[in-house]
Amino acid sequence: MSAPDLVVFHARVVPCSEAEIAMGRIGALHVIEDGALVVAGGRIERIGRTEEVLAQTTLGPDTALVDAEGLALVPGFIDPHTHALYHGRRIPEMQLRQEGKGYLEILQAGGGIQETVRATAAADDEELARETRRRIAGAIAYGTTTVEVKTGYGLTPERELRLLRVLAQVRRRAPIAIYRTFLGLHAWPLDVEDRDRHLAAMDELLGEVARRDLADAADVFCEQGVFSADDTRRHLTAARAAGLGVRLHADELRPSDGAELAGELRALCADHLLAATDEGLGAMAANSVVAVNLPGTAFFLHEEALSAQRQRQAGVVSALATDHNPGSSPTFSMPMAMALAMHTAGFTPAEALLAATRGSAQALGLQDAQGQLAPGMRADFVLLDDPDYRVLMYSFGMNPVREVYAGGRRVARFGRIAEEVEAWIDS
Ligand code: NIG
Ligand code: FE
Repeated sequence: MSAPDLVVFHARVVPCSEAEIAMGRIGALHVIEDGALVVAGGRIERIGRTEEVLAQTTLGPDTALVDAEGLALVPGFIDPHTHALYHGRRIPEMQLRQEGKGYLEILQAGGGIQETVRATAAADDEELARETRRRIAGAIAYGTTTVEVKTGYGLTPERELRLLRVLAQVRRRAPIAIYRTFLGLHAWPLDVEDRDRHLAAMDELLGEVARRDLADAADVFCEQGVFSADDTRRHLTAARAAGLGVRLHADELRPSDGAELAGELRALCADHLLAATDEGLGAMAANSVVAVNLPGTAFFLHEEALSAQRQRQAGVVSALATDHNPGSSPTFSMPMAMALAMHTAGFTPAEALLAATRGSAQALGLQDAQGQLAPGMRADFVLLDDPDYRVLMYSFGMNPVREVYAGGRRVARFGRIAEEVEAWIDS
């Protein structure tokens, strides 16, 4: 066996390799005191107590050594829900909502998502790709090592295909894994006259998206006044037939039968769920549909977060995401999402960290491939600025992440991205 590329030692390692990750069944996380991690070829080769790991490992002249005394080492965060591909901010809309206008009211009046659709259409491809890379780089500095990115600011087949092309460009030589979701049904295009024909065209587009390998999954904004459960069922059934993963924005603000539909479709996950019913959450649990929590969105829209207690009662596996987008959640900080999950939704710190790692891997259908530190896994991990991983929920709004490694390479340190990430932004 060749010498390892990297050995991190004297860390407090939290592998997140618990067998049980359904809410309510999560106890204290297993911690390896004075732990070490050996990386070779971008993967974890060995993990255990420093003394034992070093005794079993033959270091080479080029093996990098990192003494992590006093630092917690956790899996890299997986952000399974973002809308990072867009142009333009929506700061005035934030104030409109503060003054009493509703999120859906603004959308129905042609603002909100529609405003971003207009701004995105006006931006050129290079600019769009570059700003998306910059956002992902920002997420990396906060410990994200896998990110999902949706389309959804195109709305017509032509403009959605364009966004998928830009996303392909963003993914080229990306320093972390980028998972692609097609969200053609995010809102109705303003100029659409024949709604049935529009839906049929979007359903048909899924075949091309899958054939050309432009996306991994399809998503729908299933919400009263946006896309109905019937529209969603048809579109996602077509997506599955085309070979794409299926997921949905479900019951974000009003009960819309989204969680129930997610159960019926055996979707990978259903996201938001602020207005989901207990029956819906039960249907999700019974069909192994992951509940993706977006507490940043609840916070920013002044809504009550989906409670941990209801998820425990239902027995679902929970994931955690930022929902990064310009309207309802402009943050890309996964530590902030964990802090909000604890302080606004009642997650325990262990539940919040497992949701941001294992749960999120499951939401993307990565199964057990990621979100935990074990031999054979990609070496995606984070060193925290404290021996106690709960610093993630404690230092809210701050960045407790000291170093970030993706595929065994250091991609950020002290909140600053590595040179190779900078080069990728400009590529
Ligand atoms: O997840 N709910 C729909 N989509 C996004 C918001 C998109 C936007 O406002 O631009 C969400 O909250
Ligand atoms: Fe969303």
